[in-house]
Amino acid sequence: MTSASAEGFNGNYPGKGIGTPVGIAVLGKGTVGTEVLRLLGEFSDNLEQRISSPIEVRGVAVSDVEKHKDAPEVQGLYLTGDARELVTRDDVDIVVELIGGIDYPRELVLEALGAGKSVVTANKALVAAHGSELADAANAAGVDLYYEAAVAAAIPVVGMLRRSLAGDQVQRISGIVNGTTNFILDAMASTGASYEEALAEATRLGYAEADPTADVEGHDAASKAAILASMGFHTRVTFDDVYCEGITHVTSDDIEAAKQSDQTIKLLAICERLIDAEGNTTGINARVHPTLVPNEHPLASVDKSYNAIFVEAEAAGRLMFYGNGAGGAPTASAVLGDLVGAARNKVHGGRAPAENPYADYPVVPFGEVTTRYHINMTVNDRVGVLANLTKRFAAAGISLSAVRQEVSGDEAHLIVVTHAAREQDLHAIVDQLTGHDDVLSVNSVIRLDA
Ligand code: HSE
Repeated sequence: MTSASAEGFNGNYPGKGIGTPVGIAVLGKGTVGTEVLRLLGEFSDNLEQRISSPIEVRGVAVSDVEKHKDAPEVQGLYLTGDARELVTRDDVDIVVELIGGIDYPRELVLEALGAGKSVVTANKALVAAHGSELADAANAAGVDLYYEAAVAAAIPVVGMLRRSLAGDQVQRISGIVNGTTNFILDAMASTGASYEEALAEATRLGYAEADPTADVEGHDAASKAAILASMGFHTRVTFDDVYCEGITHVTSDDIEAAKQSDQTIKLLAICERLIDAEGNTTGINARVHPTLVPNEHPLASVDKSYNAIFVEAEAAGRLMFYGNGAGGAPTASAVLGDLVGAARNKVHGGRAPAENPYADYPVVPFGEVTTRYHINMTVNDRVGVLANLTKRFAAAGISLSAVRQEVSGDEAHLIVVTHAAREQDLHAIVDQLTGHDDVLSVNSVIRLDA
């Protein structure tokens, strides 16, 4: 007896049937596209077994056909500069979008979804900016939209939130989701390099792009935070909802000060559920900023360009995911995983679990969120200065957890660590300190993790 699934029907989403080829279109042939095409060739027999049908590449769209036409991965394949024509072809079932950018891929993906194609994309900027629109289009067409590769490449964090923790209540997600900035901060800590030297090394080794803005200013991590928060909290969170501060102002002195207090500076993406005294969720927040992490925390030892994501859920407890968050092969692995899922559904029928923003929690502005500050100042070394400055914190209702002072000549380095307080109150006190007669300079302000 054959099952309903084997016959190719599953509710409203019938399948093509076992053995029927699944046609795919690949848009883009950069590092990831090249690796996807190579692995599709190398793994084709295994993929066929896993899907119960062969995958057939109907075409590869590139911006410059001449440039790519001799590449080994496209031999025997239809190579075209006309992505629009390719995504709507009748024999294409799944579109794999690996172009990058936002506006052009958005148009192509919407066109593909509208034409009934499932879409697999690695494009975090696109999903973080227009995820809702794409999800609505996928729902309207009854097709799949997959984007595991958009967050931390092969680390299966999107699927984990989408499927594995679908029955749990995620409380907090914190992680290192950008390899370039982790490489830079780790190089500064382990070699004593300045930010500029570490960035130059990251560029030389190919981690940082020629224009590293998206990485070092935290934009890449903020896109990923938006996706993680959306999935984890069943709420639509976009790139614009994420507070974002990069690592360009982190100095060797900050790194040294962190070491002295047994901490490490990491660029963390933090997505959290805010809960009131009665245990009710009042909102959610997503943010990216340099963060002091205690050395005993598992995220502190994540070195080089590795990524790690720490998830806290009510029933599951604490989970950690670690690995390569970028690169051609790890990203291609995530794309192929999505492709197998989308292809199975095309063959057997059914759809993957889609985003479900039913909870619709308010995204709380960053100023309302509770954080902790580590403030490093140079102050006049005079009687009463320390008492006067700490009184300012008390007047603002901010409790201090540590104060450390090192005198050198007429000046003192004062390090103040606060307890948790509202971000906007902490920000206001730093403004006050900056204008205070006895404060010669506020050298750095770095948040602590919780
Ligand atoms: N540029 C990113 C990183 C990889 O350095 O982690 C792509 O998101």
